[in-house]
Amino acid sequence: MGKYQYHIFICTNERSDEDERGSCAKRGSAKIRDYFKKTLYERGHKGKVRANQAGCLDACAFGPTVVFYPEEVWYTLKTEADVLEVIEKHVEKGEIVERLLIPKPWAAAETDLNVVT
Ligand code: FES
Repeated sequence: MGKYQYHIFICTNERSDEDERGSCAKRGSAKIRDYFKKTLYERGHKGKVRANQAGCLDACAFGPTVVFYPEEVWYTLKTEADVLEVIEKHVEKGEIVERLLIPKPWAAAETDLNVVT
């Protein structure tokens, strides 16, 4: 196992209003990042699970974009309830939350984890 059980990257990239690609920041990623950090801390994951903000992860249309390593599972997490669900299921039970996956080719690759719907 690496330094962390999970290393989570949360895109907080921001673009101008004129940029038609949009950005995760415009879709509320700062709130998602803050809730991730607060909830991981409150649930006792400090030092075991690391959540870092990131620049553009090149999946802008699905933002806020979040990637879990080591499995490289890509999620689109739009609400605090979505974040809580991936913490409860993915972080704490090792289950991928299929309904929140970014569609392939960014979705979870071959993995040993269970997929829950
Ligand atoms: S702006 Fe977030 S993935 Fe590109």
